[in-house]
Amino acid sequence: EDPKLLPTPPMGFNNWARFECDLNETLFTETAQSMVSRGLLAAGYNRLNLDDCWMTHERTANGVLQWNATLFPHGIPWLADFAHKHGFHLGIYEDSGNATCGGYPGSYGHEQVDAETFASWGIDYLKLDGCNVYPENGRSMAEEYKRRYGQWHQILSAMADPLIFSESAPAYFSDNKTEWASVMDWIPFYGELARHSDDILVYVGEGSAWDSIMVNYHYQTLLVRYQQPGYYNDPDFLIPDHPGLTDAEKRSHFALWTSFGAPLIISAYIPALSDEEIQFLSNKDLIAVDQDPLAQQAALVSRDASFDVLTRSLANGDRLLTVLNTGSSSAKTSISVARLGLNEKCQYKARDLWTGKVSSIHDSVDITLDSHATAVYRITPGRGCTSVTPTGMIFNTV
Ligand code: DGJ
Repeated sequence: EDPKLLPTPPMGFNNWARFECDLNETLFTETAQSMVSRGLLAAGYNRLNLDDCWMTHERTANGVLQWNATLFPHGIPWLADFAHKHGFHLGIYEDSGNATCGGYPGSYGHEQVDAETFASWGIDYLKLDGCNVYPENGRSMAEEYKRRYGQWHQILSAMADPLIFSESAPAYFSDNKTEWASVMDWIPFYGELARHSDDILVYVGEGSAWDSIMVNYHYQTLLVRYQQPGYYNDPDFLIPDHPGLTDAEKRSHFALWTSFGAPLIISAYIPALSDEEIQFLSNKDLIAVDQDPLAQQAALVSRDASFDVLTRSLANGDRLLTVLNTGSSSAKTSISVARLGLNEKCQYKARDLWTGKVSSIHDSVDITLDSHATAVYRITPGRGCTSVTPTGMIFNTV
């Protein structure tokens, strides 16, 4: 998509994973104030995104969507204004089908009026979900989604100020790799970001919050080649106050999502986050990686029983090295620079993006990691040394 609309991945807040339909005006105003006072806005988190259940069950006689006035007594335009006055953008949720997943009016047949309504309310970001889509005229499910998201793309692109378009379509095809790949063929051309997998926390019933993060992480690694400036693969929300995660897992979640150059949308009760949580979410070096203008996504270069190793290029010629201990105990590894496509004859500086510590390395980086912890290094080649394309990107195609 036009890289100018969203040159780097979006950062902000969404209510869904933490509050689901339990949203209201106060949650958003309190969250905004907390994001300002706790430094998250200054760190780059400048979006407030409403998810499902903000509306009433009926459109007006003219077919216009209405906000739930009990939940939003001052109205959505007022909230947009509040957001803007405090330095934020406001985003909203709709669905491409007959109803949202929560059972509120879907946009099907009302696309143009809904786009105009959102823009007139001061909204500049639309998450378009894919519940309750029923194929018509003999089309396959995948063709139906393509038609609907394509129509939205046309409507949004024709606007004086196009809304950022967050597409949920691929997530509805993630259990069929062939259909999923066919949907990914058009997704990057229609919108700025796309949810490609199940909701974060969906597996908690059977597994753990960490398992759910790992499922979405896995799907993300299959989509490396689609990401480019202006289009981002979306592995879903950050959930830093989830009680089922260890500190290492919370930090890993953040380190992996920033390595991917993924959207950083926090779904948590921000006023109650601990200072440590605010601190790691504000890590300048990791946010700079996330927001790197090349917008590459880190790709897996190797996987063994304990470690996933990922790498990507950064705009200034540095190379990122991200190592995740997927195992259940602390372990040690050594990553040769050759595995990252770097020349073993060169000297490098490696900056540990968690500690800020810089060390000189020659042929390899030694790393010890607790279970489920992630190390991230920014590797700068010495003078006269350039990097080559990393070899062995084995998991990066659908
Ligand atoms: C499914 C989406 O994947 C979630 O992120 C959320 O938007 C819900 N629908 C809302 O019903």
